[in-house]
Amino acid sequence: LKLAVLISGGGSNLQALLDAAADPEFPARIVCVGSDTDAPGLAHAEAAGVPTFVVRPRDYDDREEWGQMLSAAIQEHGVGTGPEPGLVVSAGLMRILPAGFVREFSPHLINTHPALLPLHPGAHAVRDALAAGATETGVTVHVIDEGVDTGPVLRQARVEIRAGETEEELHERIKQLERPLLVQTVRDIALGELDLAEAARAAP
Ligand code: GRF
Repeated sequence: LKLAVLISGGGSNLQALLDAAADPEFPARIVCVGSDTDAPGLAHAEAAGVPTFVVRPRDYDDREEWGQMLSAAIQEHGVGTGPEPGLVVSAGLMRILPAGFVREFSPHLINTHPALLPLHPGAHAVRDALAAGATETGVTVHVIDEGVDTGPVLRQARVEIRAGETEEELHERIKQLERPLLVQTVRDIALGELDLAEAARAAP
């Protein structure tokens, strides 16, 4: 299974996927890594010899055009939408993918989110869970639909919230579960043990 991974930050989830894909037995390989900015995590891809690209929203008149260019870059690297679809993995992309982009790749696009969706959608999930005084939170891998963090849930993992911990401390503890969960979810999709079309149909 060919993966296009999209990031905006440090890319520790990308690194986990790169590490997994280094094993020739792993049923997926990362054929490109894209970002909306000069993400530090792009260095992980470069170190692994994986092609990278940056498609900046500010270079385009509107979000849909940005999405079209992002789609073109992904497809140029062999992650297609045709009979042999690849998989787009949003792993810390701090952008909402435009509707046209989502429709083009759906359901072969997934996102990882540091909360137990539908709780705490959006860009500040960890902070929101802390602010809500929750005793636990977690991470969700889901199919991306045209909403914000609203697509069908594929996998979740829970983590307790410790009194007094900071957003950064909690987020790192979430990531300790998130990285293997994302790798496992990609593996299950690649092996056909998790059917994205079925998951998308089954969603309420
Ligand atoms: C991850 O926790 C992801 O769920 C969230 O942003 C974080 C990215 O972390 N959207 P990294 O860049 O993979 O380290």
